[in-house]
Amino acid sequence: MIQLPLSKLSNVGTTIFSQMTQLANENEAINLSQGFPDFLPDSELLNHVDHFIKKGFNQYAPMPGMIALKEQIAAKIEHSHQAVYHPDSEITVTAGGTQAIFTTIASFIKKDDEVIIFEPAYDCYEPTVELFGGIVKRFEMKAPDYEIDWNAVKNLVTDKTRMIIINNPNNPAGKVLKENDILELIKIVKETPILILSDEVYENIVFDGKEHLSVCKYPELKERSIMVASFGKLFHVTGWKIGYCAAPENLTHEFRKVHQFNVFSVNTPIQLALAEYMKNPDHYHYLNQFFQEKRDFLRQGLSNTSFELLDCEGTYFQALRYDKISDKNDLDFARELTISHKVASVPFSSFYKNKRDEKVIRLCFAKKQETLERAIENLAKL
Ligand SMILES: Cc1ncc(COP(=O)(O)O)c(C=O)c1O
Repeated sequence: MIQLPLSKLSNVGTTIFSQMTQLANENEAINLSQGFPDFLPDSELLNHVDHFIKKGFNQYAPMPGMIALKEQIAAKIEHSHQAVYHPDSEITVTAGGTQAIFTTIASFIKKDDEVIIFEPAYDCYEPTVELFGGIVKRFEMKAPDYEIDWNAVKNLVTDKTRMIIINNPNNPAGKVLKENDILELIKIVKETPILILSDEVYENIVFDGKEHLSVCKYPELKERSIMVASFGKLFHVTGWKIGYCAAPENLTHEFRKVHQFNVFSVNTPIQLALAEYMKNPDHYHYLNQFFQEKRDFLRQGLSNTSFELLDCEGTYFQALRYDKISDKNDLDFARELTISHKVASVPFSSFYKNKRDEKVIRLCFAKKQETLERAIENLAKL
């Protein structure tokens, strides 16, 4: 029997999100593992999609995206961060944040290039870097505060460092970068050719009046950054898989060379619908408050339990430390929680290469009130 070749990611299994979702379904558990809302998007947005499909906008969009949408994106960025991107040459519509991340790495990372990431890290960074022959250097942020020691990060930089990937607000830690973090990052990259891939898919979900500090606010970072965003997170439509990246013209030019062969272009009627819907900025301005209420509801409901509620400054994820409840490792604990207590979560160890276990799990609170109530009721019994 001839042994056919394995894929370049043959050592990688299915993601923890799929595993926990499957376990949740098998056990009829409340699924707070995967990051998606269980409520409907705004019907106004759905009506726009319906309208454009029926009007006949069903063929390929231009490769970089529909200009109507790119103009709205540029306006949103300028309004939110006082940064200017040219809609035609500096904004590209992508098939979700994931494809923007994949294409950025595919465009710029060659064999033996080093890429610095921060753990706990969203799952797609590392395998994508490795797929293109890059080498991942990691800084581990630790419970309970997940602060970054920038001196340690600086020590990771070599003359092979090609890119630093930041995720702000951070999934899963719910951390938001402070001005000092940004200034330290600037110090590290200035006068180097290091690129920044800035995953900002939760940029509109930041709490307690804190400001989201996008890389594009800082000229020293903007000139070297590819900023990634997701409409899935912005408008509760994760299944539509549509997002964008904003980057200076020279970087966008290179990005599109790969993008054109990666997806070529993205869903036409949905782009037009989003462009229409974004004309009213209220459609995303309410998000901070909306998710803050959900966060507070969950935290309040769990405040009398033995779970330790770690800070949640942004994203729709709450981290819980359970060391007063069990000494099981976090994967076993998350499984037990799903099977015996009918609440599915994600163990933090899955966001670390070395499976660092600090007895912390992640709950997604982008859920209906009644879903959160049922989950709180089950968790309160522990
Ligand atoms: C940090 C982070 N980056 C990127 C993505 C991917 O975004 P999309 O669903 O638009 O591909 C997600 C989705 O959960 C995420 O949490």
